[in-house]
Amino acid sequence: MNSQHIIGVFDSGAGGLTVLKELIGHFPSLPFIYFADNANCPYGPKDTDEIINISTRIINFLLSKGSSMIVVACNTATASAIDYLRGHFHIPFIGMEPAVKPAALGSKTNSIGILATEGTFNGRLYQETTAKYAANTNVVYQIGDGLVELVEQGKYYSEEAKELLKKYVQPMLDKNIDHLVLGCTHYPFFIPILKEILPEHITIVNPAPAVARQTEKVFLESFPLASKQGDPFVHFYSSGNGGILKSLVEVIERNEGITFPNKKFFEIKL
Ligand code: DGL
Repeated sequence: MNSQHIIGVFDSGAGGLTVLKELIGHFPSLPFIYFADNANCPYGPKDTDEIINISTRIINFLLSKGSSMIVVACNTATASAIDYLRGHFHIPFIGMEPAVKPAALGSKTNSIGILATEGTFNGRLYQETTAKYAANTNVVYQIGDGLVELVEQGKYYSEEAKELLKKYVQPMLDKNIDHLVLGCTHYPFFIPILKEILPEHITIVNPAPAVARQTEKVFLESFPLASKQGDPFVHFYSSGNGGILKSLVEVIERNEGITFPNKKFFEIKL
């Protein structure tokens, strides 16, 4: 049957929009449901059980809206919950991959930096990926405390953000990194500032395009009869203040020169 599939996407807030915009590029004619859990943001300092509980509620909501596949557009939720979610819900899940491999393979100085949340660094995925692909690479990791909150306050291009980012990247520069991995989906909002403060030779690695490619691959494998054509829409749900999500959606649309098709905004408490 050629039924229309809906892709569900969630994050602790607006960070997953940096992934959604890549997904739309691969699936311009499909409907999407985006859930921003800004009532519970940030996830970074939360423990695994709490993130599993929160994620389970969100998945149930996304399923109730007809999602047939879910992109966990949050490194922290992926690190804490994706194994559990895959074991409990029988639909395909795509998570965020720490982009350690391309950074380590591409590094000429043999030194890379990773900026992510505490929860992401504590997760199995990050530890396994680093052991597998960067065992002989110097990895400078830095917890980006406060950065997610700045994006959620709309201060992604501010003096405050610049000072914090300078503080976080300096130990990496001291170790001669030539790749900086953005290990949190909120951080691509800082790319304009990072380009100002980083030396030109440093490559910023944003895993979102690779995650979108992987989503397309899994979609085609999972739903071989599905049409990629349909009536596209993006419904944005916030568990907290929907105004900030709306304004960050507009920022992405302006900066990227894209329009999320037939968008609607809702606030909902889970
Ligand atoms: N965008 C989330 C991530 O990729 C942010 C986590 C948080 O809320 O701390 O990890």
